[in-house]
Amino acid sequence: MAATVRRQRPRRLACWALMTVLLADLLALSDTLAVMSVDLGSESMKVAIVKPGVPMEIVLNKESRRKTPVTVTLKENERFFGDSAASMAIKNPKATLRYFQHLLGKQENNPHVALYKARFPEHELGFDPQRQTVYFQISPQLQFSPEEVLSMLLNYSRSLAEDFAEQPIKDAVITVPAFFNQAERRAVLQAARMAGLKVLQLINDNTATALSYGVFRRKDINSTAQNIMFYDMGSGSTVCTIVTYQTVKTKDAGMQPQLQIRGVGFDRTLGGLEMELRLREHLAGLFNEQRKGQRAKDVRENPRAMAKLLREANRLKTVLSANADHVAQIEGLMDDVDFKAKVTRAEFEELCADLFERVPGPVQQALQSAEMKLDEIEQVILVGGATRVPKVQEVLLKAVGKEELGKNINADEAAAMGAVYQAAALSKAFKVKPFVVRDAVIYPILVEFTREVEEETGVRSLKHNKRVLFSRMGPYPQRKVITFNRYSHDFNFHINYGDLGFLGPEDLRIFGSQNLTTVKLKGVGESFKKYPDYESKGIKAHFNLDESGVLSLDRVESVFETLVEDSPEEESTLTKLGNTISSLFGGGSTPDTKENGTDTVQEEEEGPVEGSKDEPGEQAELKEEAEAPAEDTSSPPPPEAKGAAAPEGEKATEKDGGDKPEAQKPSEKGEAGSEGAPPAPEEEKKQKPARKQRMVEEIGVELVILDLPDLPEDQLARSAQKLQDLTLRDLQKQEREKAANSLEAFIFETQDKLYQPEYQEVSTEEQREDISGKLSATSTWLEDEGFGATTAMLKEKLAELRKLCHGLFFRVEERKKWPERLSALDNLLNHSSMFLKGARLIPEMDQIFTEVEMTTLEKIINETWAWKNATVAEQAKLSATEKPVLLSKDIEAKMAALDREVQYLLNKAKFAKPRPRPRDKNGTRAEAPLNASASDQSEKVIPPPGEARGLVQASLGPEAADSEPLELGGPAAGEGGCGGLCWGAVPALSWACSLRLTSLHPLLSSPNSSQNPNRRNTRNSRQDRREL
Ligand SMILES: Nc1ncnc2c1ncn2[C@@H]1O[C@H](COP(=O)(O)OP(=O)(O)OP(=O)(O)O)[C@@H](O)[C@H]1O
Ligand SMILES: [Mg+2]
Repeated sequence: MAATVRRQRPRRLACWALMTVLLADLLALSDTLAVMSVDLGSESMKVAIVKPGVPMEIVLNKESRRKTPVTVTLKENERFFGDSAASMAIKNPKATLRYFQHLLGKQENNPHVALYKARFPEHELGFDPQRQTVYFQISPQLQFSPEEVLSMLLNYSRSLAEDFAEQPIKDAVITVPAFFNQAERRAVLQAARMAGLKVLQLINDNTATALSYGVFRRKDINSTAQNIMFYDMGSGSTVCTIVTYQTVKTKDAGMQPQLQIRGVGFDRTLGGLEMELRLREHLAGLFNEQRKGQRAKDVRENPRAMAKLLREANRLKTVLSANADHVAQIEGLMDDVDFKAKVTRAEFEELCADLFERVPGPVQQALQSAEMKLDEIEQVILVGGATRVPKVQEVLLKAVGKEELGKNINADEAAAMGAVYQAAALSKAFKVKPFVVRDAVIYPILVEFTREVEEETGVRSLKHNKRVLFSRMGPYPQRKVITFNRYSHDFNFHINYGDLGFLGPEDLRIFGSQNLTTVKLKGVGESFKKYPDYESKGIKAHFNLDESGVLSLDRVESVFETLVEDSPEEESTLTKLGNTISSLFGGGSTPDTKENGTDTVQEEEEGPVEGSKDEPGEQAELKEEAEAPAEDTSSPPPPEAKGAAAPEGEKATEKDGGDKPEAQKPSEKGEAGSEGAPPAPEEEKKQKPARKQRMVEEIGVELVILDLPDLPEDQLARSAQKLQDLTLRDLQKQEREKAANSLEAFIFETQDKLYQPEYQEVSTEEQREDISGKLSATSTWLEDEGFGATTAMLKEKLAELRKLCHGLFFRVEERKKWPERLSALDNLLNHSSMFLKGARLIPEMDQIFTEVEMTTLEKIINETWAWKNATVAEQAKLSATEKPVLLSKDIEAKMAALDREVQYLLNKAKFAKPRPRPRDKNGTRAEAPLNASASDQSEKVIPPPGEARGLVQASLGPEAADSEPLELGGPAAGEGGCGGLCWGAVPALSWACSLRLTSLHPLLSSPNSSQNPNRRNTRNSRQDRREL
């Protein structure tokens, strides 16, 4: 096992490196938000994010783990999620829910519900008679539907993603098992809606894994088809998928890689959980055996003990993957009795023998659905945690007849990574290299209708008709139109699943209702009355199997046409309306259509009528009945448009936007060929001057849901509100805990501070006793009454204590700041004085500063010295326990004022141009007299009063001893101004470090300095202000 981990490490690193490089290439920065993916496994979820500028990555949860248990603990007054909930499973098994996805979209009589009850008897399941579903009855007051529980978990996954991304996230791609039917998919969508998540797509987890595999092997994909088999055994189920990778030509992006799901096989109940349950049962038996004769109760009747055993079984199973045997042990399993038992791998394999026999099943199913043979499969790749069980690998290897099984993909994270790649592709915030994804329909869908027909003999009978809407292993997303040509009155039709013969009897029962919806049309007769002079083009029902694999009936229309002789005129409002609606639903080419979006997958030629192989006559009959086959909306105009120019609206309806992979073209041609391609509109116009006018009348639709009714809108809103309230309650609880912690911490820290010398120095004993007393009183209150205190009360208590201690803390803080602030002020004063001295030394003919400017600076220097000395002296007279008069904020303000003044002059000097020299009679330039009036200038700077220095030194520490201003003409000035310091070294100042006083002399100033274009304005405006 350890060796396996080591072997995988470099691979993982290489993978991440590749990912980083690839995504740096792929992802463009954008100011929109991050997107996330959730691989929603039965046992654990894996969350990934991608945000602008950051490559896709797996989210670490609060415990810094990459997987989060799909576990929720729901108690009366609090909730726990993930790892915290998992740790509650033993303490509170009834309120800790796991594997609840197995109940999604199932009615109460579903065998999966019975299995759930048998596996987890600690949960009480209530019955919802309205939807015939079950819910968790946690307590008499507390009940939650599986959708609600999932919604809470999705909300939690979002909070993890948001914490990790450090920004809000709303858009998500969520994985579902490929075998999820319509009801199950809708349940997940409803849960996401309750959580306020915008689902960009429900992606099948096998497709997400295949996408992740393809994206990181883009370079290996070429025009030769490669068939790869993914075998994913997770906790709850097993899915085997055959994927074909190859490059295809796209309209916009040229040759691009494509993955096509070719075959899928699955076993809904084969996985790690079932193995664990077998082991638990074994361990329970061993424990009972050990206590035989002690008149002990059966451990199976104790939910806490069973929860402990399940956890141990999980651990044991994992260890047995790497070891031949292992000792299971649990302290105080029941009645304080410890449990210890050795279990060998052979025993484990014996317990699960029938499960291992089921390993090849999904492989056979996948091959059958793909109509492929094993030798066409290049590689079999392991996915999912349970494929780590050696026996699973052994049986699988034998079943697939390969030399080895591929382990070159991260078995845990591939689905989450593929899903987040898809999320980035669907989000407008990212530019992602196209990767065409063609998923496949697992459960075929039919339209069925019954019509009364009159036979030649005159006998009237009912004829039942079936039309395949979406065929098994046909690609999706896909839009289809079915045209009913023989109806002129209201009628009903039914949407049902097609042949599910590939499912075993048990799977069929788990599958649930095979009838999806009855559609009742209203207004067909009315539409005929409205257009008596028009020719009916049939009743067209527009279906959409979207990217989430969810079927919807977009609309039903009654279509009429007539030829209009006169010159083309304005389309009727109704036609326009019809056209608009058509383009809205019909997916007319949209500019931001993406390769990974809806429009990349196109249907082939519509499949034959169900059962047509056996009943060819039936097919002919049905063609007559529903004249047009189910139309792929991406196909050319339908038969009735033959020989006529189809109006714009119709084209929009029938034409699908987006790029069509070249590989799909034959099917498009096939369809066009079979129906006869209509002539181009231009040619048409020449042949027929008459214009065809089309009228479209929307038909009322009543849907009777037969599989599992969705939560009614009002109930959904109530659930969303209920969950929001719980989230709010959690947040309030967290805030209260934070407030209590802050108060407790403040009391503790302040009590400690009262004994520290720096605090004692600035407080009287009386002051300290007062504070200490209040702290103790609050501490007692917190212990006695704090439990029931509200957040506001806790915050108020803290505010009171803070106020009480404010003076003390302020004095300590100020004293801490004084040395540094005063030293900075001294430095600034010294350097300003030197600067002024330098300025005064500039010969008159080169002088760049006005007298007003220099006097102003001198004044402010002198005033600042005076203020500092006076304030320091005053402070020295005060007791340390009194409120200080020397305040750091005042020092900062004085520094800022002086800084402004010097900064102005520095800037002026920096951009000053040397004045031209008057020439003497020999033609040489006159030199400026050096040190002109230096002594005069120096006299104007007031030296600091000597008596203040001693005080400052005494009270402010050694640094303050340097606070004397430099004598003008002293050593530092002689070195050129800064004495090794530069202006930027003075804290809180922004002066440019490169500016030294020497550079202020015009003769030494940088020749480039005159290039500043703003110079004139700055100088003039400032000068103007000064001189005014
Ligand atoms: N080393 C191991 N040996 C045996 N089993 C393991 C090992 N590691 C993980 N597992 C099992 O793998 C299962 C989890 O796998 P995974 O995370 O793929 O499942 P899932 O995605 O949560 O479930 P599913 O895909 O079935 O809905 C658990 O049953 C776990 O005990
Ligand atoms: Mg999984």
